[in-house]
Amino acid sequence: MFERTPMIAGNWKMNLSLDEAVALVEAIGSGIGNVSDVEVLVAPPFTHLAAVRGAIDASKIFLAAQNMHWEMSGAYTGEISGRMLQHSGCTHVILGHSERRTLFNETSEVVNLKVRAASFLGLIPVVCVGETLDERESERTFEVIKEQLDLSLDNFRADQMMPTSTILAYEPVWAIGTGKTATPEQAEEVHHFIRLWIEQTFNSGTAAQVRILYGGSVKPDNVKTLMAEPDIDGALVGGASLKSDSFVQLIRSQKA
Ligand code: PGA
Repeated sequence: MFERTPMIAGNWKMNLSLDEAVALVEAIGSGIGNVSDVEVLVAPPFTHLAAVRGAIDASKIFLAAQNMHWEMSGAYTGEISGRMLQHSGCTHVILGHSERRTLFNETSEVVNLKVRAASFLGLIPVVCVGETLDERESERTFEVIKEQLDLSLDNFRADQMMPTSTILAYEPVWAIGTGKTATPEQAEEVHHFIRLWIEQTFNSGTAAQVRILYGGSVKPDNVKTLMAEPDIDGALVGGASLKSDSFVQLIRSQKA
């Protein structure tokens, strides 16, 4: 059995001024002290990455961007490349978040171009999948998740190998920012399905090592029961990552 180190990741979305972002990460850094048994990741807006990097101890808090373009450089007005993210101090990048998929028409094919570019650069992708309420109610959850995994991770399927550092996140769209969390059982059912997909697509060693985070209204009062499930390895947190108290509480509750 592999021990998977839990990860608590904060997706700040399009929130916080530059000063607020720096203050938040400083408060998180002092609040968590010397954590060693949980990995902490924050994903500020692009414009705040370098300043946040400057304000944290890189051995304690990893830095992610919330999106990237798949080309290295070129005439792509308004876009940011993975290499630029690395120059800003990012080690990780969130890809295929449901807000990108639904509000910006990002398909799984596009997500895969980004996953491929991130891997080429050595940026660790945090690849999100999740079903809408409609899809759940019409009992299409597993079909939707399988298709998102197949297409979003197509390059790894072609290579017949997925780096074990890859992070997946299951975020039911109906639970994001709504206050409705999936029950631990509902989440575990999908996490287990994802782990089986990894095993069947790659191998059992990869399935045992890849971390699968849950996201969707994770709060200090529900994180423990979610994390108690065998296939839930951490949380991707939106709202509760914007306040140092709640984010630090989420991180600290991993130690118990
Ligand atoms: P939430 O967002 O915690 O505010 O529901 C989660 C996410 O979108 O990653």
